[in-house]
This record gives sequence, C-alpha cells and structure tokens, in this order.
Amino acid sequence: MKDIVDTLRWYEQMGVDETISETPVNSFNQVKKKPTKQPVVANKNIFQVQEKDATLSGPSEIAINVRKKAGECKNLDELRELVTNFKDIAITKTATNTVFSDGNPEAEIMMVGEAPGAEEDARGIPFCGASGKMLDQMLSHIGLNREKNFYITNTIFWRPPGNRRPTPEELAICAPFVEKHVALIKPKLIILIGGTAVTALLDSNQGISKLRGNFYDYNNEYLDSPIKTTAIFHPSYLLRSPGQKRLAWKDCLMLKNYIKEQGIKI
Ligand code: URA
Repeated sequence: MKDIVDTLRWYEQMGVDETISETPVNSFNQVKKKPTKQPVVANKNIFQVQEKDATLSGPSEIAINVRKKAGECKNLDELRELVTNFKDIAITKTATNTVFSDGNPEAEIMMVGEAPGAEEDARGIPFCGASGKMLDQMLSHIGLNREKNFYITNTIFWRPPGNRRPTPEELAICAPFVEKHVALIKPKLIILIGGTAVTALLDSNQGISKLRGNFYDYNNEYLDSPIKTTAIFHPSYLLRSPGQKRLAWKDCLMLKNYIKEQGIKI
C-alpha cells in the first residue's frame, strides 16, 4: 500500500496529476471499431479530416467554421461569447473555465501567452498563477500593468490536461479566434510570451532565443495593416532557468525604449 501511495505522490510531483489524455476516448466504441487496412499517415495539412468514418466533424470543418464565426464578430463581447460557448475541441470538456482575457481592452499593447494553467483554469483569468505574478512584476519595472496599459490573452482558451503544450491541431482551431481577437483590440504593439505564442502567430520555425530582441510585422486576414510584434521568454521558463533573467531584463529595457520612441500610450 505504501508503495502505491509513494508512486502516486511521485506522479503528482512529476506533473501527472490527471488520468486523462489529450482527447477523450470512448472505450465502448473501440470494441466495435473495425481494424483499418492501412495505418493513418500523418498528413501535412492539419486541417484535413483524417478518418473517413469519424462521427464528429474533423479539424478541417471545425477550423473553417471557427473562421467563419470569428469573422462575423463585430465586437469583443461577441467574440468572448463565441469562445465561451465553443465546445468543438476536447479540452473544453476537461477545463473548468474558459480563460478569455484580462487587462485593459483599450490598451495599445497586447500580450499573448501559451495556455491557461491550473490556477488560470480555476479562476478564469490568464496569467494569475506563479508565472503571471512574475510577469506582472517584471513588467511593472518598465511602467506596464494590466489594469492600465496592457491587455493579455493566450493562444488557446482552455487548460490542456496536465499543463501539456497545446497541440498543433488545438492551435490551428483557435487561430481564427486569436486573429480576430488581435483585430478587435487593434494594438500598436504585440508581445508574444514564449515559444508557443511565437509558433502560433509568427509562423516561424525559429526558437524564442533567436527571435527575442527584435521586432517583426504581424498580419492576419482581419487586419488592415501589419502590427509590430516582439517576443519575450515565458516567465515559467525564467522560473526554471533564473540565469536567463539577465536577457529578459534586456528585453524589458528594449521594450521600454521602443514604447517611448513610438509614442505608444502607457
Ligand atoms: N502560462 C501561460 O502561457 N498563460 C497563462 O495564462 C498562464 C500561464
């Protein structure tokens, strides 16, 4: 008995705190499922339906539908309602809350992180846990605070089980929500927090270490013109690798200068 308790304790410490996988599995259906003749080949196009006999619509249909519905949102309240009522992605079933955004929607700076963690899921507020506290503290040194001068969201709006990274499929499905979100806020500067946000918005295969410290043009189909965008280390990475805080501070100073030079309102 003690061994089992020790094993469970060890699992918990390693982050294995939930007995669920990325997607819910209907074990009753599996018994009836006919064996497929050929293995499913990974398809480059993640929007394509991979199983012909899938009862749920495949990612392609979901993503197309999301793009159409997001395009129809005329304001932030409509987008928030659309996202909150969205159920066509498995993580919505395991999450406690939809974590849409926080901060000042009138701000000229928008931040995009990765995905809600446990605390964010429990409270429905992005970056309200340990990494959020560190982010707020870091940004406060250059005059930024979310009540006043920035708006913050994530690449996906529900906590992935066990805090795993969002899958490419989840990112692709949520992409139109995020794109429309940016277009409705229309910031003058976007700050991407961590590698997942970079992958989701910048379509670059370069890592955060290469991309930080520079500005890029971000554009999407809902925008009239590109928006200057930069990337910073994710605070959870800085909590694990405090030696990188030196570079993070350099990035903060770069941001401070840029905001001043460009006359961005803070
Ligand atoms: N990490 C993120 O990327 N987003 C959150 O909201 C919390 C932690």
